[in-house]
Amino acid sequence: MLPTTPTTEFEQSLNGELATPQEVLKWALEEFGNDVSLACSFGAEDVVLVDMLAKLTPNPRIFVLDTGRLHQETYDVMDLCRARYNTRFEIFTPDGTDLQSLLSEKGPNSFFASISNRKECCHIRKVEPLKRALVGHRAWITGLRREQSVTRKHLPKVEIDLEHGGIKKISPLADWSELQVWNYIKVNQVPYNALHDSGFPSIGCAPCTRAVKPGEDIRAGRWWWESPEHKECGLHSRKA
Ligand code: ADX
Ligand code: SF4
Repeated sequence: MLPTTPTTEFEQSLNGELATPQEVLKWALEEFGNDVSLACSFGAEDVVLVDMLAKLTPNPRIFVLDTGRLHQETYDVMDLCRARYNTRFEIFTPDGTDLQSLLSEKGPNSFFASISNRKECCHIRKVEPLKRALVGHRAWITGLRREQSVTRKHLPKVEIDLEHGGIKKISPLADWSELQVWNYIKVNQVPYNALHDSGFPSIGCAPCTRAVKPGEDIRAGRWWWESPEHKECGLHSRKA
């Protein structure tokens, strides 16, 4: 079985606190060229990475999993970024047949009924499209941070993603704080999702995300009816 930690000494060193996000991205672009993409949901972390990538390379590969249930504000920031960075985003949508069956059998709001229904919807709208998005890739980049949740506390900056055939999964902002993310956005005047100004620190699909109260956990508004250990949609699950 493949190890889940990176193999080379240099990759190990990228996991140290000293490697900046830009150094990690530069290494990823040099190492994987056109075979690496950023997975972009247009949350605060992801727009930071879009800005950094656009400053490092003329045509960064960036894909979006358009679940069909995203907020209008998310589509708006996508357009703002298209204009600002003159960048093409590759859009992946759910398989039409699977989606039609789900909607016909269980209706449009099945995810509220049970955790297994919610995971089924996330599988059709996010997890399966992600598998298609990663075909031909040797690596992918995410905006994950360790501070975001209990499930992400030990996140490495570079790891082997067994869930997707052993390609590299790179999280350049793993050790950044929320404050560092927002400082970067402000200093670099990066376009960001307007919902962040209305109490949404973490943004997913519209029906499954709500604003949080001051002092609440940053992911409290995601699948708010579930307990924290369940709050993953399967995009970032790990094979043991
Ligand atoms: S989720 O698993 O709970 O939905 P979260 O919203 O925290 O994930 O985002 C973590 C990272 O997953 C993002 O920084 C991004 O790299 C990737 N991601 C999440 N949603 C999408 C999406 N709709 N399209 C592309 N990438 C996404
Ligand atoms: Fe479906 Fe909600 Fe998951 Fe979006 S977040 S894919 S609407 S269950």
